Amino acid sequence: MIEVRELTKRYGSTTAVDALTFTVRPGLVTGFLGPNGSGKSTTLRMVLGLHTPTSGSVTVGGRPFVDRPRGLRHVGALLDAGDMHGGRTARAHLAVLARGNRIPLARVDEVLEEVGLAGAARRRIAGYSLGMRQRLGIAGALLGDPPVLLFDEPLNGLDPEGVKWVRGLFRRLAAEGRTVFVSSHLMTEMEHTADELVVIGRGELIAAESLSEFAARGARLSVTVGTPDASALTPLLLAEGAEVARDGGLLTVTGLSAARIGRLALEHRVLLDQLTTRTASLEEAFMELTADSVEYLAGDAR
Ligand SMILES: Nc1ncnc2c1ncn2[C@@H]1O[C@H](COP(=O)(O)OP(=O)(O)OP(=O)(O)O)[C@@H](O)[C@H]1O
Ligand SMILES: [Mg+2]
Repeated sequence: MIEVRELTKRYGSTTAVDALTFTVRPGLVTGFLGPNGSGKSTTLRMVLGLHTPTSGSVTVGGRPFVDRPRGLRHVGALLDAGDMHGGRTARAHLAVLARGNRIPLARVDEVLEEVGLAGAARRRIAGYSLGMRQRLGIAGALLGDPPVLLFDEPLNGLDPEGVKWVRGLFRRLAAEGRTVFVSSHLMTEMEHTADELVVIGRGELIAAESLSEFAARGARLSVTVGTPDASALTPLLLAEGAEVARDGGLLTVTGLSAARIGRLALEHRVLLDQLTTRTASLEEAFMELTADSVEYLAGDAR
Protein backbone atom coordinates (compact mmCIF):
# COMPACT_ATOMS: atom_id res chain seq x y z
CA MET A 1 0.00 0.00 0.00
CA ILE A 2 1.22 3.48 -0.88
CA GLU A 3 -0.30 6.42 0.95
CA VAL A 4 0.23 9.90 -0.42
CA ARG A 5 -1.02 12.75 1.77
CA GLU A 6 -1.05 16.43 0.77
CA LEU A 7 2.19 15.80 -1.07
CA THR A 8 3.71 18.96 -2.52
CA LYS A 9 6.95 19.68 -4.39
CA ARG A 10 7.99 23.16 -5.48
CA TYR A 11 10.99 24.10 -7.62
CA GLY A 12 11.36 27.85 -7.16
CA SER A 13 8.13 29.31 -8.50
CA THR A 14 7.10 26.03 -10.20
CA THR A 15 4.75 23.80 -8.24
CA ALA A 16 5.45 20.38 -9.76
CA VAL A 17 3.22 18.46 -7.32
CA ASP A 18 0.38 20.26 -5.59
CA ALA A 19 -1.18 18.81 -2.40
CA LEU A 20 -1.72 15.34 -3.88
CA THR A 21 -3.65 12.86 -1.77
CA PHE A 22 -4.38 9.30 -2.89
CA THR A 23 -3.91 5.66 -1.87
CA VAL A 24 -2.56 2.85 -4.04
CA ARG A 25 -3.87 -0.50 -2.85
CA PRO A 26 -2.38 -3.99 -3.11
CA GLY A 27 -3.77 -6.65 -5.43
CA LEU A 28 -4.55 -4.16 -8.18
CA VAL A 29 -2.81 -2.42 -11.04
CA THR A 30 -3.17 1.33 -10.53
CA GLY A 31 -2.51 3.59 -13.49
CA PHE A 32 -0.94 7.00 -12.81
CA LEU A 33 -2.04 9.22 -15.65
CA GLY A 34 -1.37 12.80 -16.59
CA PRO A 35 -0.19 14.88 -19.52
CA ASN A 36 3.53 15.61 -20.00
CA GLY A 37 4.92 17.70 -17.15
CA SER A 38 1.99 17.02 -14.83
CA GLY A 39 4.22 15.74 -12.01
CA LYS A 40 4.12 11.94 -12.34
CA SER A 41 7.88 11.32 -12.25
CA THR A 42 8.35 13.85 -9.46
CA THR A 43 5.69 12.06 -7.38
CA LEU A 44 7.25 8.63 -7.98
CA ARG A 45 10.67 9.98 -6.99
CA MET A 46 9.21 11.27 -3.74
CA VAL A 47 7.65 7.85 -3.05
CA LEU A 48 11.16 6.41 -3.33
CA GLY A 49 12.69 9.13 -1.20
CA LEU A 50 14.85 10.34 -4.11
CA HIS A 51 13.27 13.79 -3.84
CA THR A 52 12.31 15.42 -0.55
CA PRO A 53 8.76 16.77 -0.48
CA THR A 54 8.33 20.50 0.14
CA SER A 55 5.42 19.47 2.35
CA GLY A 56 3.10 16.53 2.91
CA SER A 57 4.05 12.89 3.26
CA VAL A 58 4.23 9.56 1.50
CA THR A 59 4.48 6.14 3.10
CA VAL A 60 4.96 2.65 1.68
CA GLY A 61 3.53 -0.11 3.84
CA GLY A 62 2.98 2.45 6.59
CA ARG A 63 6.55 3.80 6.72
CA PRO A 64 8.56 6.30 4.72
CA PHE A 65 10.53 4.28 2.18
CA VAL A 66 13.84 5.88 3.12
CA ASP A 67 13.59 4.21 6.55
CA ARG A 68 13.97 0.80 4.96
CA PRO A 69 17.35 -0.83 4.61
CA ARG A 70 17.66 -3.24 1.64
CA GLY A 71 15.13 -1.13 -0.21
CA LEU A 72 14.74 -3.36 -3.28
CA ARG A 73 13.14 -6.05 -1.16
CA HIS A 74 10.39 -3.62 -0.21
CA VAL A 75 9.87 -1.56 -3.36
CA GLY A 76 11.00 -2.31 -6.90
CA ALA A 77 11.07 0.56 -9.33
CA LEU A 78 11.68 1.31 -12.98
CA LEU A 79 12.33 5.02 -13.28
CA ASP A 80 14.45 6.37 -16.11
CA ALA A 81 15.62 3.41 -18.18
CA GLY A 82 18.41 5.60 -19.61
CA ASP A 83 19.92 5.85 -16.14
CA MET A 84 22.28 2.84 -16.34
CA HIS A 85 26.00 2.40 -16.67
CA GLY A 86 26.37 1.67 -20.41
CA GLY A 87 29.75 0.01 -20.03
CA ARG A 88 28.37 -2.77 -17.83
CA THR A 89 26.67 -5.92 -19.00
CA ALA A 90 23.06 -6.48 -17.97
CA ARG A 91 24.19 -9.22 -15.64
CA ALA A 92 26.82 -7.03 -13.99
CA HIS A 93 24.33 -4.19 -13.61
CA LEU A 94 21.86 -6.45 -11.79
CA ALA A 95 24.62 -8.10 -9.76
CA VAL A 96 25.60 -4.68 -8.35
CA LEU A 97 21.98 -4.03 -7.37
CA ALA A 98 21.66 -7.52 -5.85
CA ARG A 99 24.83 -7.16 -3.78
CA GLY A 100 23.78 -3.76 -2.43
CA ASN A 101 20.46 -5.17 -1.28
CA ARG A 102 21.70 -8.58 -0.03
CA ILE A 103 19.79 -10.44 -2.69
CA PRO A 104 21.26 -13.83 -3.73
CA LEU A 105 23.05 -13.69 -7.10
CA ALA A 106 20.99 -16.61 -8.42
CA ARG A 107 18.06 -14.24 -8.51
CA VAL A 108 19.84 -12.18 -11.22
CA ASP A 109 19.64 -15.00 -13.74
CA GLU A 110 16.06 -15.69 -12.74
CA VAL A 111 14.87 -12.17 -13.52
CA LEU A 112 16.93 -11.97 -16.72
CA GLU A 113 15.16 -15.12 -17.85
CA GLU A 114 11.81 -13.70 -16.80
CA VAL A 115 12.17 -10.51 -18.88
CA GLY A 116 13.53 -12.35 -21.92
CA LEU A 117 17.10 -11.04 -21.68
CA ALA A 118 18.87 -14.27 -20.71
CA GLY A 119 20.44 -14.50 -24.17
CA ALA A 120 21.75 -10.91 -24.04
CA ALA A 121 22.81 -10.96 -20.38
CA ARG A 122 26.53 -10.74 -21.14
CA ARG A 123 26.28 -7.89 -23.63
CA ARG A 124 27.08 -4.30 -22.69
CA ILE A 125 24.05 -2.15 -21.95
CA ALA A 126 25.41 0.57 -24.27
CA GLY A 127 24.47 -1.66 -27.22
CA TYR A 128 20.94 -2.30 -25.96
CA SER A 129 17.88 -1.01 -27.80
CA LEU A 130 15.39 1.17 -25.91
CA GLY A 131 13.06 -1.80 -25.51
CA MET A 132 15.88 -3.98 -24.12
CA ARG A 133 16.73 -1.25 -21.60
CA GLN A 134 13.11 -1.14 -20.52
CA ARG A 135 13.17 -4.90 -20.00
CA LEU A 136 16.38 -4.61 -18.00
CA GLY A 137 14.82 -1.85 -15.90
CA ILE A 138 11.85 -4.12 -15.23
CA ALA A 139 14.26 -6.93 -14.28
CA GLY A 140 15.81 -4.56 -11.73
CA ALA A 141 12.39 -3.78 -10.28
CA LEU A 142 11.61 -7.50 -9.90
CA LEU A 143 15.00 -8.41 -8.43
CA GLY A 144 14.09 -8.11 -4.75
CA ASP A 145 10.72 -9.88 -5.17
CA PRO A 146 9.11 -6.79 -3.57
CA PRO A 147 5.47 -6.37 -2.48
CA VAL A 148 5.32 -2.88 -4.02
CA LEU A 149 6.35 -2.03 -7.59
CA LEU A 150 6.58 1.35 -9.33
CA PHE A 151 6.99 1.75 -13.07
CA ASP A 152 7.46 5.13 -14.74
CA GLU A 153 6.31 4.95 -18.38
CA PRO A 154 7.32 1.28 -18.72
CA LEU A 155 5.75 0.83 -22.16
CA ASN A 156 7.98 3.43 -23.83
CA GLY A 157 9.99 1.82 -26.60
CA LEU A 158 8.37 -1.60 -26.37
CA ASP A 159 7.07 -3.34 -29.49
CA PRO A 160 3.52 -4.78 -29.51
CA GLU A 161 4.75 -8.15 -28.27
CA GLY A 162 6.62 -6.40 -25.45
CA VAL A 163 3.56 -4.32 -24.53
CA LYS A 164 1.46 -7.47 -24.32
CA TRP A 165 4.08 -9.17 -22.17
CA VAL A 166 4.34 -6.20 -19.78
CA ARG A 167 0.55 -6.03 -19.41
CA GLY A 168 0.47 -9.73 -18.55
CA LEU A 169 3.32 -9.26 -16.08
CA PHE A 170 1.54 -6.38 -14.29
CA ARG A 171 -1.66 -8.38 -14.07
CA ARG A 172 0.22 -11.33 -12.63
CA LEU A 173 2.10 -9.21 -10.08
CA ALA A 174 -1.20 -7.71 -8.93
CA ALA A 175 -2.86 -11.13 -8.80
CA GLU A 176 -0.05 -12.20 -6.46
CA GLY A 177 -1.28 -9.49 -4.09
CA ARG A 178 1.38 -6.89 -4.83
CA THR A 179 0.86 -3.16 -5.16
CA VAL A 180 1.53 -2.16 -8.78
CA PHE A 181 1.68 1.54 -9.67
CA VAL A 182 2.31 2.39 -13.33
CA SER A 183 2.59 5.84 -14.89
CA SER A 184 1.70 6.85 -18.42
CA HIS A 185 0.68 9.95 -20.35
CA LEU A 186 -1.47 7.81 -22.67
CA MET A 187 -4.92 6.61 -21.67
CA THR A 188 -4.80 3.92 -24.35
CA GLU A 189 -1.88 2.30 -22.52
CA MET A 190 -3.87 2.07 -19.29
CA GLU A 191 -7.17 1.03 -20.79
CA HIS A 192 -6.27 -2.66 -20.90
CA THR A 193 -3.85 -2.66 -17.98
CA ALA A 194 -5.19 -0.77 -14.98
CA ASP A 195 -7.98 -1.55 -12.49
CA GLU A 196 -7.72 1.80 -10.74
CA LEU A 197 -6.65 5.22 -11.99
CA VAL A 198 -5.00 8.21 -10.37
CA VAL A 199 -5.24 11.11 -12.82
CA ILE A 200 -3.32 14.35 -12.29
CA GLY A 201 -2.93 17.63 -14.18
CA ARG A 202 -0.46 20.42 -13.33
CA GLY A 203 0.46 18.53 -10.18
CA GLU A 204 -3.11 18.43 -8.89
CA LEU A 205 -5.38 15.46 -8.42
CA ILE A 206 -8.14 15.24 -11.04
CA ALA A 207 -9.50 11.76 -10.27
CA ALA A 208 -8.71 8.71 -8.13
CA GLU A 209 -11.18 5.95 -8.89
CA SER A 210 -11.74 2.67 -10.73
CA LEU A 211 -11.36 2.55 -14.48
CA SER A 212 -15.09 1.97 -14.91
CA GLU A 213 -16.00 4.92 -12.66
CA PHE A 214 -13.63 7.07 -14.66
CA ALA A 215 -15.17 5.93 -17.93
CA ALA A 216 -18.68 6.64 -16.65
CA ARG A 217 -17.89 10.16 -15.46
CA GLY A 218 -16.21 11.27 -18.66
CA ALA A 219 -18.35 9.46 -21.18
CA ARG A 220 -21.27 11.65 -22.08
CA LEU A 221 -23.49 9.65 -24.35
CA SER A 222 -24.46 11.38 -27.53
CA VAL A 223 -26.93 10.30 -30.17
CA THR A 224 -26.46 11.00 -33.85
CA VAL A 225 -29.79 11.66 -35.54
CA GLY A 226 -30.20 11.84 -39.30
CA THR A 227 -33.40 13.45 -40.59
CA PRO A 228 -34.53 15.32 -43.70
CA ASP A 229 -36.58 17.50 -41.36
CA ALA A 230 -33.95 18.82 -38.94
CA SER A 231 -35.62 22.20 -38.53
CA ALA A 232 -38.79 20.56 -37.25
CA LEU A 233 -37.04 18.10 -34.94
CA THR A 234 -34.52 20.50 -33.37
CA PRO A 235 -37.03 22.65 -31.40
CA LEU A 236 -38.80 19.49 -30.19
CA LEU A 237 -35.50 18.13 -28.82
CA LEU A 238 -34.60 21.46 -27.23
CA ALA A 239 -38.02 21.60 -25.55
CA GLU A 240 -37.22 18.21 -23.94
CA GLY A 241 -34.03 19.67 -22.46
CA ALA A 242 -31.55 18.17 -24.93
CA GLU A 243 -28.48 19.90 -26.30
CA VAL A 244 -28.40 19.83 -30.07
CA ALA A 245 -25.59 20.53 -32.53
CA ARG A 246 -26.68 20.64 -36.16
CA ASP A 247 -24.62 19.86 -39.20
CA GLY A 248 -26.94 19.86 -42.23
CA GLY A 249 -29.32 16.93 -41.85
CA LEU A 250 -27.27 15.38 -39.03
CA LEU A 251 -27.94 16.30 -35.41
CA THR A 252 -25.69 15.43 -32.48
CA VAL A 253 -27.93 15.22 -29.45
CA THR A 254 -26.84 14.97 -25.82
CA GLY A 255 -29.11 14.63 -22.80
CA LEU A 256 -31.77 12.40 -24.38
CA SER A 257 -31.67 8.67 -25.07
CA ALA A 258 -32.07 7.26 -28.58
CA ALA A 259 -35.37 5.65 -27.46
CA ARG A 260 -36.83 8.98 -26.36
CA ILE A 261 -35.69 10.72 -29.52
CA GLY A 262 -37.26 7.97 -31.65
CA ARG A 263 -40.56 8.23 -29.78
CA LEU A 264 -40.58 12.02 -30.02
CA ALA A 265 -40.01 11.84 -33.77
CA LEU A 266 -42.81 9.31 -34.18
CA GLU A 267 -45.27 11.39 -32.13
CA HIS A 268 -44.59 14.42 -34.34
CA ARG A 269 -44.37 12.43 -37.57
CA VAL A 270 -40.77 13.44 -38.28
CA LEU A 271 -38.92 11.00 -40.51
CA LEU A 272 -35.61 9.65 -39.16
CA ASP A 273 -33.08 7.92 -41.34
CA GLN A 274 -30.39 7.45 -38.70
CA LEU A 275 -30.39 7.02 -34.92
CA THR A 276 -27.04 5.98 -33.44
CA THR A 277 -25.81 6.09 -29.85
CA ARG A 278 -22.14 6.91 -29.40
CA THR A 279 -20.09 6.41 -26.23
CA ALA A 280 -17.03 8.58 -25.76
CA SER A 281 -13.85 6.51 -25.55
CA LEU A 282 -11.72 6.52 -22.40
CA GLU A 283 -9.19 8.53 -24.39
CA GLU A 284 -11.80 11.22 -25.01
CA ALA A 285 -12.80 11.18 -21.35
CA PHE A 286 -9.16 11.62 -20.35
CA MET A 287 -8.61 14.44 -22.87
CA GLU A 288 -11.73 16.22 -21.68
CA LEU A 289 -10.80 15.94 -18.00
CA THR A 290 -7.22 17.07 -18.48
CA ALA A 291 -7.87 19.67 -21.21
CA ASP A 292 -7.37 22.57 -18.80
CA SER A 293 -4.12 21.21 -17.46
CA VAL A 294 -2.22 20.36 -20.62
CA GLU A 295 0.99 22.31 -20.32
CA TYR A 296 2.71 21.79 -23.64
CA LEU A 297 0.34 22.33 -26.56
CA ALA A 298 1.57 22.28 -30.13
CA GLY A 299 1.14 25.65 -31.85
CA ASP A 300 -1.79 24.62 -34.02
CA ALA A 301 -3.64 23.05 -31.08
CA ARG A 302 -3.93 26.26 -29.05
N1 LIG B 1 14.65 19.29 -11.01
C1 LIG B 1 13.69 20.13 -11.43
N2 LIG B 1 13.84 21.46 -11.42
C2 LIG B 1 12.88 22.29 -11.84
N3 LIG B 1 11.67 21.89 -12.30
C3 LIG B 1 11.45 20.59 -12.36
C4 LIG B 1 12.42 19.61 -11.94
N4 LIG B 1 11.90 18.38 -12.10
C5 LIG B 1 10.66 18.57 -12.62
N5 LIG B 1 10.39 19.88 -12.77
C6 LIG B 1 9.12 20.44 -13.27
O1 LIG B 1 8.07 19.81 -12.60
C7 LIG B 1 6.97 19.56 -13.44
C8 LIG B 1 6.59 18.10 -13.40
O2 LIG B 1 7.60 17.32 -14.01
P1 LIG B 1 7.54 15.72 -14.08
O3 LIG B 1 8.79 15.25 -14.73
O4 LIG B 1 7.25 15.19 -12.72
O5 LIG B 1 6.29 15.48 -15.02
P2 LIG B 1 5.77 14.11 -15.70
O6 LIG B 1 4.33 14.05 -15.39
O7 LIG B 1 6.62 12.99 -15.28
O8 LIG B 1 5.95 14.42 -17.25
P3 LIG B 1 6.28 13.43 -18.50
O9 LIG B 1 4.98 12.80 -18.92
O10 LIG B 1 6.77 14.38 -19.55
O11 LIG B 1 7.30 12.44 -18.04
C9 LIG B 1 7.38 20.06 -14.82
O12 LIG B 1 6.84 21.34 -15.01
C10 LIG B 1 8.88 20.13 -14.74
O13 LIG B 1 9.38 21.13 -15.58
MG1 LIG C 1 7.82 11.64 -16.35
